[in-house]
Amino acid sequence: MPILAPNSLEFLSRSADQTRRVGMRLGALLEMGDVICLEGELGAGKTTLVQGIALGWGSLDKVSSPTYVLVNVYRRPDEARLVHLDAYRLNGAAEAEALDIDNLLVTGPVVVEWAPRIRGALPEENLWVKMDWIDDERRSMQFSADGQRYEKLLDGLQARMFGV
Ligand SMILES: Nc1ncnc2c1ncn2[C@@H]1O[C@H](COP(=O)(O)OP(=O)(O)OP(=O)(O)O)[C@@H](O)[C@H]1O
Ligand SMILES: [Mg+2]
Repeated sequence: MPILAPNSLEFLSRSADQTRRVGMRLGALLEMGDVICLEGELGAGKTTLVQGIALGWGSLDKVSSPTYVLVNVYRRPDEARLVHLDAYRLNGAAEAEALDIDNLLVTGPVVVEWAPRIRGALPEENLWVKMDWIDDERRSMQFSADGQRYEKLLDGLQARMFGV
């Protein structure tokens, strides 16, 4: 089993579609107030994972990630909103504070690409996903849960991915 510790999980994705499927399973479990932080270099697969998350969550909108857009909002029929932040162009927590992430969390889950750039502005408790490029088709994904809610979320994700 790809288990490192009770609050973490490692997975080797062998294709972009597989990464999207992991995202779908995670997205289906997300609730208002959940924070998902994505770490990984250019091309690691962060946006690909978000495509799956949005689909699994039930988004009516397609995920887009033009580099100049900082905040994308995806809708669902029940009025919930999934917020997709791309912190690539932000310089530190001060700029990120202006986004008022706590306020965004009232409308639905928030997913943050390039989370390390705005670490200080993010809630301490979150699900952290570190993605690494292995080769053209493979990416490693390391999930770490901080806080009870996220340990439960990770348990749920593990059950959906591996049936245990
Ligand atoms: N196993 C895999 N998981 C995710 N993406 C993969 C995988 N294998 C190949 N890819 C490809 O790698 C690219 C990942 O791009 P993506 O935009 O998701 O990365 P990103 O981490 O969001 O980069 P950026 O920092 O530029 O926003 C896509 O072209 C995708 O098809
Ligand atoms: Mg991206």
